[in-house]
Amino acid sequence: MRRIIHLSDLHFGAEEPTIAEGLLADLKRQSAHLLVVSGDLTQRARASQFADAERFLKHIDLPQIVVPGNHDIPLYNAIARWLTPLDNYRRFIGRNVEPTFYDAELAVAGVNTARSNTWKDGRISPHQVERLRQFYTAQSDAACKILIAHHPFIPPAKDPKAALVDGGPAALRVFEACGCHLILAGHLHLAYSGDVRPHHVEVTRSILVIQAGTAISHRRRDEANAYNVLTIDGPTLSLEVRAWNGREFTGSPPERFTQTEEGWCPQ
Ligand SMILES: [Fe+2]
Ligand SMILES: [Fe+2]
Repeated sequence: MRRIIHLSDLHFGAEEPTIAEGLLADLKRQSAHLLVVSGDLTQRARASQFADAERFLKHIDLPQIVVPGNHDIPLYNAIARWLTPLDNYRRFIGRNVEPTFYDAELAVAGVNTARSNTWKDGRISPHQVERLRQFYTAQSDAACKILIAHHPFIPPAKDPKAALVDGGPAALRVFEACGCHLILAGHLHLAYSGDVRPHHVEVTRSILVIQAGTAISHRRRDEANAYNVLTIDGPTLSLEVRAWNGREFTGSPPERFTQTEEGWCPQ
């Protein structure tokens, strides 16, 4: 059994300090094995904002897989945006913008979908997909194979035309071939989940997508600040969304999924 904390869209620079403190307090009550952060650590990629994000992450005593989001690339400084887009990210958060983690039960890979040539959309390139293919095929089939990305691969029910990651369909065809089970992402500041197949008819194997809301920022989209707790135990997965109620983070009844021959089935 493995428990994963999934945070996204912290947006330091647009964070709510009380909620950030509440999140750290709530995380202390979770006994997890891994923290993943699916991008947008800052609001404007400023050094001071990354320093705040770094301080925050240092309070969480877990192995961490963190990837950048579009807000982690400078927007107004054109020279930095094009020549050194992730310098501040690398300086404060981690030199490797595509980290990996694996043990007997998990094989987790991060991918950087943020790009300098678009304001907010993201892309996954054939080169990145090939790197991921090599990683997943080198891992035991007994492990749950998980991708961490910032940009979404499926839209939310309330916004079916939401922009998805460019290159997503081609990437998914490779991911299904190498046994990827799960994609964790953010960007839309909405918590939702679903199978990729209804949205990508060319994909035949079930891959479950789980999106996290914005954990601590005021950039809410008609939803409370929230984060996800995933418990993976063999073929079963439980997803608990823990949301801020104005005083603390509290959990909703977990959604449960089981992997069957038909794919991920909600229980
Ligand atoms: Fe965001
Ligand atoms: Fe984003």
